[in-house]
Amino acid sequence: MSKQRVWVSRPLFPEIVTKLEQYFVVVAETADQKRSTEQLKKALAGFDGALLGLNDRVDAAVLEGNNRLKAIANLGVGYNNLDIAAITRAGIIASNTPEVLNESVADYAWALLLVAARRVNSAERWLRAGQWHGMRFDDWLGVDLHGKTLGILGMGRIGQAIARRAQGFGMPVLYHNRHRLPESLEQSCGARYVDKPTLLRESDHLVLVLPFTSENRHAIGAAELALMKPRAVLVNIARGGIVDDAALASALRDGRLGAAGLDVFEGEPAVHADLLALENVVLSPHIASATEDTRRAMATLAADNLIAALGRGPQSGHPPTPINPEVLTR
Ligand code: GLV
Repeated sequence: MSKQRVWVSRPLFPEIVTKLEQYFVVVAETADQKRSTEQLKKALAGFDGALLGLNDRVDAAVLEGNNRLKAIANLGVGYNNLDIAAITRAGIIASNTPEVLNESVADYAWALLLVAARRVNSAERWLRAGQWHGMRFDDWLGVDLHGKTLGILGMGRIGQAIARRAQGFGMPVLYHNRHRLPESLEQSCGARYVDKPTLLRESDHLVLVLPFTSENRHAIGAAELALMKPRAVLVNIARGGIVDDAALASALRDGRLGAAGLDVFEGEPAVHADLLALENVVLSPHIASATEDTRRAMATLAADNLIAALGRGPQSGHPPTPINPEVLTR
């Protein structure tokens, strides 16, 4: 039997490619690029499996006429880049990388919250620009986190990890989620369930950790921002498009919101020009899970998913984290 063929759409740790090569003929791209539907369709032709990133948008048009592809491993927990219904119809097993990134992403939400609240980024830029000529007592005043109320919108595993950290900061936690957590989990996270308007009104600072779906596009827009406290810090580590970036920029510019920490953007890697022009926003290039250990763990899990989904390796036929396991039992 000739070896199955696997495509890796972006640069990856060499040992992961080596691992895949134990089972497959591997074509691994050495540059990251955003591909059009046509380009992705062409790139996937002739492969049995693909290890894809969040820039690779797979839908029915990409899959049209491709009868060979059997498995897609997404390098990320979020998979709004995949049309799961179309992928399932095509009999392709899709997988993602949950759990292994929870703690690193939770750490990073706090990093953005702290930097934005205490204006670390702007102060550093100012210092590097040679503008520090002695300490002024009333310079660089930020807002506190300790003792303030933290709001979390989206209370999955990452939201819960963020909530647990709030206990160390002495911050009461409010949350809103599609489903209320069991009481025991609420207690261990120290979090109280409220409806969304209450969350917006009562949180001193708000972190967004919800998955992107068609229903929650612009879940935070002008109307929601208007409910928030004027000195609040908003952190988005979820997905671009959940926040209306133009509305956010105007709230930040007009002093209707204190600051923001953003790791994700509508239309990234492009960033809204109005956000780039503001000082009271911390911007980072979608790196919430980017630690050495976590990115390796994600890549390893994605490779394990692909190997198993293509019927190879010790977990043959049982990918550890499938998104559409129903395909496996067909
Ligand atoms: C990153 O954004 C992920 O979904 O893992």
